[in-house]
Amino acid sequence: MSGGFLVTGGSGFIGSNLVRLLLGRFPDAEVWNLDLLTYAGSGRNLDDLRDHPRYRFVQEDVCGLAGFAPDDARLGGAGFRCVFHLAAESHVDRSTVEAVDFVRTNVLGTQAVADWVRRGGARRLVHVSTDEVYGSLGPRGKFRETTPLAPSSPYAASKAAADLLVLAAVRTHGPAGLDAVVTRCSNNYGPFQFPEKLVPLMLTNALAGEPLPVYGDGLQVRDWIHVEDHCLGLLAAFGKGRAGEVYNLGGASERENLAVVKAILAATGRPEVLVRFVEDRPGHDRRYAIDASKARRELGWRPLRRFERGLRETIGWYRTHEAWWRAIRSSGGFRAYYRAMYERRIREGTPGGAA
Ligand code: NAD
Ligand code: TYD
Repeated sequence: MSGGFLVTGGSGFIGSNLVRLLLGRFPDAEVWNLDLLTYAGSGRNLDDLRDHPRYRFVQEDVCGLAGFAPDDARLGGAGFRCVFHLAAESHVDRSTVEAVDFVRTNVLGTQAVADWVRRGGARRLVHVSTDEVYGSLGPRGKFRETTPLAPSSPYAASKAAADLLVLAAVRTHGPAGLDAVVTRCSNNYGPFQFPEKLVPLMLTNALAGEPLPVYGDGLQVRDWIHVEDHCLGLLAAFGKGRAGEVYNLGGASERENLAVVKAILAATGRPEVLVRFVEDRPGHDRRYAIDASKARRELGWRPLRRFERGLRETIGWYRTHEAWWRAIRSSGGFRAYYRAMYERRIREGTPGGAA
């Protein structure tokens, strides 16, 4: 065993933060990143590690692991201590328009990862999932690990399928055959988040002086967690999680979308009239809230950053990394996506606030 770590999807938002955390926390370990570099992944997210002596990058489709030997030379030839599986199609809005890639990467890709770990590729698998598998909550209550799965979007359904495949493989082969843990986290925010998700989309629109498209009445609730707290939860799941168990991770920061958007406008000095209430997302979940007491009890984990502080820091990061997000926003792919998703809705939307 090399004692190294493999992160799938390490060039994405959470993956790139996790790669950095692993390199810092395990000074003797190599950290490998297997990523296809889809529209959401960028070598630029890990630019600073290009010459790092313990960082290795492999550009591959995660589904391709089905054709890898457990000691495949392309991945260094020795088994890993743990695979953190994050490679996924991750954006709900895209899944409502085109779902096939979600099924392929999120479902088939996860099975390929689980099989490869079971064949000896790694000693442990941490499968990184989402609270969205539980569907929508009413005004009260929180998701527990025992809450029935009721996904609303193709994204959430593909993640739920992946979770069940991992858990079923542990049941089938036993923890000695596949040692895997599933984590389900709430909405992340922080550095390197692709500007199609709520916080970076609103923030970069505000900084660029463009309208902020709020779906429906904007009173949907999400539980926000800073990406570093999520990554620390993944390390805790690797270290202390029991095979075959699910752990909810949440930020204990439930906020209405409109409150988040208004906080971003206030912090960037932009007027609320930039808000546009636009046609709602189909199948839009009303409320998410996480009961993370199992992770607190068994993993000794809890989120450390309060939302207001984390958001302030994140706004600071986007301000000082303008070249990073401007390059994404000016790419042809992003512009085409934005036009198709927002142009008509913004034109037909209702402005918020006072002029
Ligand atoms: P992201 O979209 O920023 O990154 C996904 C990464 O996966 C990208 O680097 C992309 O290139 C890579 N990828 C996509 N398809 C691939 C394939 N077929 N083979 C190899 N690599 C591929 O996503 P993220 O927000 O960083 O999310 C990472 C994981 O965490 C996902 O599994 C997601 O479901 C989960 N998650 C995300 C959140 C959140 O709020 N962002 C919350 C809970 C769980
Ligand atoms: P998002 O960041 O896409 O995460 P998720 O769908 O995984 O929760 O969206 C967060 C919330 O913000 C969700 O309720 C949808 C809403 N939203 C908007 O109102 N406008 C937008 O342009 C986007 C991207 C999201």
